[in-house]
Amino acid sequence: MTVHFIGAGPGAPDLLTLRGRDLIAACPVCLYAGSLVPEGVLAHCPPGARIVNTAPMSLDEIIAEIAAAHAEGKDVARLHSGDLSIWSAMGEQLRRLRALGIPYSVTPGVPSFSAAAAALGAELTLPGLAQTVVLTRTPGRASAMPEGEKLAAFAATGAVLAVHLSIHLLDKVVAELTPHYGTDCPVAIVWRASWPEQRIVRATLATLDAAVGSEMERTALILVGKTLGAADFDESRLYAADYDRRYRPVGAEPRFPEAS
Ligand SMILES: C[S@@+](CC[C@H](N)C(=O)[O-])C[C@H]1O[C@@H](n2cnc3c(N)ncnc32)[C@H](O)[C@@H]1O
Repeated sequence: MTVHFIGAGPGAPDLLTLRGRDLIAACPVCLYAGSLVPEGVLAHCPPGARIVNTAPMSLDEIIAEIAAAHAEGKDVARLHSGDLSIWSAMGEQLRRLRALGIPYSVTPGVPSFSAAAAALGAELTLPGLAQTVVLTRTPGRASAMPEGEKLAAFAATGAVLAVHLSIHLLDKVVAELTPHYGTDCPVAIVWRASWPEQRIVRATLATLDAAVGSEMERTALILVGKTLGAADFDESRLYAADYDRRYRPVGAEPRFPEAS
């Protein structure tokens, strides 16, 4: 018996990995984390599967469900939205499973920041503008931020920020970032990336407030940085015609002549 943790992706059911789909189809028990896991993903559960929404459950209750499946020798598909490596609460479940000696596997999913960038048609790292993306959030009721992980500290680097779990604090985010990025810095907000109701607002830090209006939907990502919508950036050297490299030797004395 194994508990298969599976990243269910950002919303569109066809942004699930093939491995994730096949594991869901093979598990007689499926625990899924609330409304961000779409029904189209749950449709891969086999007929008669026990399907449980864990949103209203405590960690103890979730582990009790898993332990009961373990006692019956039934594999469990454990679904969380996006990828499991960020804000999935997988860590605390794995710690309990390790203590109980219950085997598990982890299958990655498409994270929401990737889906948001895809919706924008954006490469977040562009030569000469930004080469770092910071996945972060603001403090919430359930999760304080460690000292040092302030938005302003990340902003001081000029990296592109993907701010999660913070759309309800948009004013505060804009106020903290503006001194570092400047009022004309591009911002994009993507609500429910990849869902049918996906919505995008592009603005600058100065114009964002008016552009967003009264949108209250909480599932949104705030992307801030110079690369958003940029047209004036360097081309990467990798594909330059005169760039000598292993797979495309160039010139009279290439560095990797054996590849030619
Ligand atoms: C609990 S975190 C889960 C993050 C998830 N594990 C991931 O890989 O993206 C939930 C937050 O992720 C962001 N999010 C999740 N799905 C999203 C989507 N489809 N579009 C935009 N933001 C999303 C929002 O900021 C939301 O408040």
